[in-house]
Amino acid sequence: MTVNIADRHAAPTAVTVVERPRLPVRHQIAIEVAPHEQDVGRARHKLRETLISWGTEDGENLRSAELVASELLTNAIRYAPREEMALTAAEGAGSLLIEVEDGGNPSSAPTIQQGVAADAVSGRGMLIVDAMADEWSWRPLPNGGRGTWAVLPWPGGVAR
Ligand SMILES: Nc1ncnc2c1ncn2[C@@H]1O[C@H](COP(=O)(O)OP(=O)(O)O)[C@@H](O)[C@H]1O
Ligand SMILES: [Mg+2]
Repeated sequence: MTVNIADRHAAPTAVTVVERPRLPVRHQIAIEVAPHEQDVGRARHKLRETLISWGTEDGENLRSAELVASELLTNAIRYAPREEMALTAAEGAGSLLIEVEDGGNPSSAPTIQQGVAADAVSGRGMLIVDAMADEWSWRPLPNGGRGTWAVLPWPGGVAR
């Protein structure tokens, strides 16, 4: 099984949309998320439990996945909420793909903010995602929303 990739040509013209990598998926899950910040913790916890059930024992990897998921979720809820939102994860071949589906507000998109002050408390979410992920981007979804995804190294997922 492989994960569908974005159609480059379906993307808005002004934005570079990188294709999601094709992963030979061993495990995947979709977690529904309500468009309220209070639901981020529950979704993150569900992701953690799921990743553990898939066999990872590495606490650092788990923390990275939780952090990326929670930054993407917080942004989705803050900047492009809609009734149907989701956190999906797929694992295989040494990678973990995390994607958050939002309402795809066309007036903004995830970006890394430049020149964030060292003591600033906001404006770091995508910087953190960028630092932890092998790659990340977003894509328009067939149902009109946007999927912001990140691929993390996931050595615990390599078949032995
Ligand atoms: N899902 C999203 N939909 C629309 N815009 C987004 C989304 N995620 C991030 N952004 C944009 O990218 C910017 C940077 O996000 P981030 O680094 O998390 O900082 P912060 O959320 O603190 O502003 C946001 O200010 C917002 O303009
Ligand atoms: Mg943010």
